[in-house]
Amino acid sequence: MLEASTTSRARFITFEGGEGVGKSTQVKRLQQQLQRSGIDVVRTREPGGTAKAEAIRAFILQGRSEGWGAGGEAVLFAAARHDHVNQLIAPNLRRGTWVLSDRFHDSTRAYQGLTGGVDDKLIDALERLALNGHTPDLTIVLDMDPELAFERVARRSVEDGLALTGDRFEKEELDWHKRLRNGFLAIASANPDRCAVISADQGEEPLEAAIWSVVAERFGEQLGGGRA
Ligand code: TYD
Repeated sequence: MLEASTTSRARFITFEGGEGVGKSTQVKRLQQQLQRSGIDVVRTREPGGTAKAEAIRAFILQGRSEGWGAGGEAVLFAAARHDHVNQLIAPNLRRGTWVLSDRFHDSTRAYQGLTGGVDDKLIDALERLALNGHTPDLTIVLDMDPELAFERVARRSVEDGLALTGDRFEKEELDWHKRLRNGFLAIASANPDRCAVISADQGEEPLEAAIWSVVAERFGEQLGGGRA
């Protein structure tokens, strides 16, 4: 069977970054923008996206994998991703539906690898297993000074009437978050064709516009009817 031509095939776009950078809002906004351009698009997230992967998400985020170490967690995230790719991402792309994911494989490299100390070669091997060839076409890395991101998370928690307990990843120290940020930046500079780093230290609307201009630049010819 012939591959869909590069100008018509469905695209796989991932969003990455540290805690509190506003990814989830921007994934939703990009989905709406693409829909207005006539693109069929699904939005998903990691860890999660399928029933099996959501079960692993609950296990990890409730802190039940805490004694497993970063290596054990990398394996769990990869197992969740393997199901997510095979059951949701690949079938959608095959039928021509674009896929937006709030986090994907770069999170394992940044959190468990570069910040958590898991060996690169193990991360590479898990990536090969989980991705099964489905490397994203574009990764938007939302970058922000962790001190600012912390303030945003705190504000959001107060607005939502929540105590700032967060899940177990949100409880890490500031220094750890700085290493995480550098991890994402290192991944982006090692993959300049795939990754676009965008400052998340701006309002929701200008940030949406900045993301849209990257998407329009990469895939403009596929976005005929949109306001590029
Ligand atoms: P989530 O509540 O979705 O956080 P966020 O809104 O920041 O995406 O929780 C996901 C947490 O799991 C987040 O702290 C990042 C972490 N994570 C990893 O450590 N490794 C991974 O491979 C993935 C996908 C997520």
